[in-house]
Order: sequence, then structure tokens, then C-alpha cells
Amino acid sequence: MTSHKLTVALESRSYSIHIGSGLIKAGGDSLLLPRLRGHHGVVVTNTTIAPLYLRQVQEWLAAAGYESTAIILPDGEEFKNHEVLQRLYHEMFQAGVQRNGFVCALGGGVVGDLAGYAAATYMRGIDLIQVPTTVLAQVDSSIGGKNGVNLDVGKNLVGTTYQPRVVISDVDFIASLPEREFLCGLGEVVKYGLLAGADFISFLEMNRVEIAERKPRSLAIMTHSCSRIKADFVVRDEHDLLGVRAALNLGHTVAHALEKTYAYQKLGHGEAVAVGLVCALALSQTMKLLSEAAFQRALKLLDLYGLPMLVPADADPEILVNLMRRDKKAGRGLSMVLLRGLGDPFLDENIDAGLLREIIDKCKKPLVVA
Ligand code: NAD
Ligand code: GLY
Repeated sequence: MTSHKLTVALESRSYSIHIGSGLIKAGGDSLLLPRLRGHHGVVVTNTTIAPLYLRQVQEWLAAAGYESTAIILPDGEEFKNHEVLQRLYHEMFQAGVQRNGFVCALGGGVVGDLAGYAAATYMRGIDLIQVPTTVLAQVDSSIGGKNGVNLDVGKNLVGTTYQPRVVISDVDFIASLPEREFLCGLGEVVKYGLLAGADFISFLEMNRVEIAERKPRSLAIMTHSCSRIKADFVVRDEHDLLGVRAALNLGHTVAHALEKTYAYQKLGHGEAVAVGLVCALALSQTMKLLSEAAFQRALKLLDLYGLPMLVPADADPEILVNLMRRDKKAGRGLSMVLLRGLGDPFLDENIDAGLLREIIDKCKKPLVVA
């Protein structure tokens, strides 16, 4: 299978994303790696991924002339914190990582965010290689340089924007991903469809079976498209200052409030994003920004992929809207990404709270027309 390559064009911080099957294995193409500053670094991963892929990645690095020490972290969002970060710095130091060393982040978004933050800050910044192993990490978190850790008072409150030297998305890793994590990743994939418009939506409509069966060729095309869409928003607004990169938060304002309300137990992130997309679509349609036909096409796409689409019956719109006002990305008023059409997102910083409460209530019942 051919691999796909794209460039995130950020001047001196530009880097390649390689996407395909069989990219990382002993004898795989080590030329995918850029020239790193030194020859020794660490592979940071977790207890679930290490037995599956660590050896393969270390052998692949070795074949390219890079020696690595493994650092294996506990698995879980609850470990994306300063305590584990301290341990990580300490183990990097013990492993002899120097200013010219590297961090290779092997895992999902949790490992990627932690290891990315460590790479950005250890000795004021060392080379970072992202090797994402979940759909979410391949289509989203490994691209664009955001990293960080959680605080007790909220998620992702400490972090930096620090670009990797390369991202290697080997879709073979997706074969072992638990079904629910796979589905959560697809929530983000559908989000990209709504951000990008008709062409990618048509691809997703026509290739559902192959994607659901995790056929490497279809996963690679899907991941390539999502990566291209994300990279495009990132290069136009690397530091999230212009309201352009903010469009990537389509569905996320409601999603974050739902996740918080249910203490991150009831809905996975991608599932909450799917419900958040329905709310953003319904608000856009009610505000006459989005046609009924576009609205129904988007809902049918979420339905086709078996994503949850209903706001839980016991969710209190008042509480959700109050949480949204306090969202890290909310700005001064109540803001949300809406759609003027499929592929035409914008950040509305003046959302009518009363209307949003009505929409949240409305989204407790199915809106898709059979
Ligand atoms: P995750 O990293 O927790 O991975 C999900 C689960 O799948 C974990 O148990 C993990 O060990 C396991 N796993 C990973 N790859 C596997 C594989 N190939 N086979 C079997 N099991 C595998 O979750 P995630 O959804 O990848 O990432 C969520 C995190 O990403 C959150 O912390 C979120 O804040 C962050 N995030 C960051 C950005 C960004 O731009 N930096 C964007 C979106 C999300
Ligand atoms: N995940 C949103 C961003 O990278 O900006």
C-alpha cells in the first residue's frame, strides 16, 4: 500500500506527517525520520501499548541509527498530571537524555500530550517524534503541537504549543484499538467532514463499511484527509489567536460541558463530541445559517457511523450552559463554532444562552428524518 505524506508548513518549524500501513517495523522505511540533533532519546509509552508495539518502534529507530530507552507510564487520563510528568523528567535524566536527545511519543492523546509537554520543556526543548496509536491521536492530537497536563481544577490547563519534528501515523496500530476508542475517534473524523464539506463527507458516506472493518487502505485515506484538514487550520493560526484554529472545536463546547457534568464517566470524549455536533448543527439550522438538507445530511452521517446523537434525558440545559460560559476557550461571552454550510465553520462569540438551552432540550429527542 502506498503511504501518504503531507507537510505542515510552519517555516522553520515545518514537519512531515507520514500516513500508511507497515511504516513502522524492523526494516520499515527509516528514511521517514528527519535528521535528529543527536542519536539517543526515549520512547515514552504506556503499560497497554508497550507489550504491543514498543519493541517494534525501538527496532525501527535502531535501524535508523537512533538508540532509545523505554519509559512506560501508567495508562489513563487520570495520569496526565504533574506527578507523572515529574517522574517522566526524572527518568529522562536517568536515561542520560541530553539537550540533543529526543522524545518519541508512542500512544494515544494522553501519552502524546504528556510526552509532548516533556519534550517542549526538558532542557528548554528537545526533538519530538509523534507516533500516534489511536484514531483520535492520528487525526487530531499528534498534529499542531498542542500538549499539556491536567490540573485538579480542569483538563489541559497547563501546556505549550511545540511542534514535533515528524508525525508517523501507522494505521496498522488501529487494529488493536478497543471498539469504543475507535468509535470515539470517528466522532472527531465526522467533525472534520463537517468542517471540510462535501468531498470528504461523500468519502465517509461511501466508505463506512471499509472504515468500520478498519481496512488499512480506507483508514489511511481517512487519516490523510483529516490530517490535511487539521494542518490547514493549524498553519493559518498556529497559536490559536485568530479564531481560525478555534473552528477545530466544532462540537466541543457542548461536549466539554457534557463530559464535566457526568464526571467523564458516561460519555467518551468522541461520543460527547458527536452529541455536541448535533447541538451545533441544530443551532446553526435554527438560526437559518444551515439549510434543512445540509442539516439532515450531517445528522445522517453521524447516524451512519453509529455515533450517539442524543443529549442525555437527565442533562440540565441551565447547568450545561453555565459550564460553557466557563469553558477555557469561551472568551468573554458564550461562544460556539457554528456552520454557515457544510465546510463553512465560524466562531460565533455571541451565542444567545436562552436559544442554546432550548436547542439542548430539543436534542434530547431524535432530529434525523428517516
Ligand atoms: P488515550 O491516549 O487515553 O488512549 C485511549 C486508550 O487506548 C488508552 O487506554 C490507551 O492505552 C489505548 N490504546 C492506545 N492505542 C492503542 C492501540 N493501538 N491498541 C490498543 N490500545 C490502545 O486517549 P485518546 O483518545 O487517544 O486521547 C485523549 C487525550 O488526547 C486527552 O487527554 C485529550 O485532552 C487529548 N487531546 C489532545 C489534543 C491536542 O491537540 N494536543 C487534541 C485532542 C485531544
Ligand atoms: N484540538 C484542537 C487544536 O488542536 O487546536
